[in-house]
Amino acid sequence: MIQNPSQNWHPHYYNRMSLLDKIDSVKKNFLADIEGQSVDKNKIIQLKSFYLGRKGKIAFLFSQLGTVEPENRPKIGQALNKLKKDLTSLFNKKLKELPTDSEGLSNSIFDLTLPGTHYRYGSTHVLEQTMQEIKDIFTSIGFHVAYGPEVDDEYHNFSALNIPEHHPSRDMQDTFFINPLTILRSHTSNVQVHLMENEDPPIRYIVPGRVYRNEAISYKSYCLFHQVEGIYINKKVSFAELKGCLEYFIKRMFGNKKEMRFRPSFFPFTEPSAEVDIWDNDRNEWMEVLGCGMVDPAVLDNVGYDSTKWHGYAFGIGVERMAMLKYKINDIRLFYNGDIRFSRQFS
Ligand code: PHE
Repeated sequence: MIQNPSQNWHPHYYNRMSLLDKIDSVKKNFLADIEGQSVDKNKIIQLKSFYLGRKGKIAFLFSQLGTVEPENRPKIGQALNKLKKDLTSLFNKKLKELPTDSEGLSNSIFDLTLPGTHYRYGSTHVLEQTMQEIKDIFTSIGFHVAYGPEVDDEYHNFSALNIPEHHPSRDMQDTFFINPLTILRSHTSNVQVHLMENEDPPIRYIVPGRVYRNEAISYKSYCLFHQVEGIYINKKVSFAELKGCLEYFIKRMFGNKKEMRFRPSFFPFTEPSAEVDIWDNDRNEWMEVLGCGMVDPAVLDNVGYDSTKWHGYAFGIGVERMAMLKYKINDIRLFYNGDIRFSRQFS
């Protein structure tokens, strides 16, 4: 509630004025108070009750009428009535002018029938969604999530993983070199090494991230893509557990009916090794989606784990290929060409 909107209500000064002067003064103050109040409806309503309310300034002036000499009463009464009428109509006019009610708006310069501006909401990219699904599945069975460097040294990406100096993947042609010792990682397996260097066993992690390869670009290979690495090290870990874990993962990802197979393979950092293929119904062929195997004792020795005590398995899942199979995307390049018509289909 506004107590004394104008500065001119000093009680001492006000009390000694004649009633006619008071009427004048109330009017002046009112005009000063109402001026500029063209948008704030609450303020106008407060002012209205300050002046015209039951205990307002005008009611007070009416209550003073009895103190005026009888011969002056009609004149002052008339002046008071006029003041009340003027103020009431001014307030009503002000309230009518307010642009907040729909009547005010429709009479104004705004055309309410024009369509509004449509703002689009952003959403997560289908690759990010797929990555999130993969993370949810593995964290629900006890894996922690870790991240590691995308730009790394040759040691962590190759040597510590038992990949020999002359291996073709170490070629300048196959890996992106920043300088002779520093590369864009060619897989997320480099983080296996960082994790084991920094933490004692047992450990159980997944590592989502981006990897880079100088690939021959095709519908299923691109120069950058995403992997989710997995690493589990403990006292007794078997290949059967690795199989069980990955079968469970594929079932959660694709449902019970999806056909998958383990195919013997080779990686320098796992022994034995396998790859998992998933049947691609649309192309009528197997699609390779991940590599895996039992962590090679040489890797454990390189990071200072006692390979006679500790064993483990590791895997690396190709995220794009998972998304392609799950969402029937027939070309890996679609993930990267930035065509919003593609992205919107998954939002
Ligand atoms: N790093 C391998 C690749 O990129 C995948 C892999 C990870 C294989 C872990 C075995 C163990 O192809």
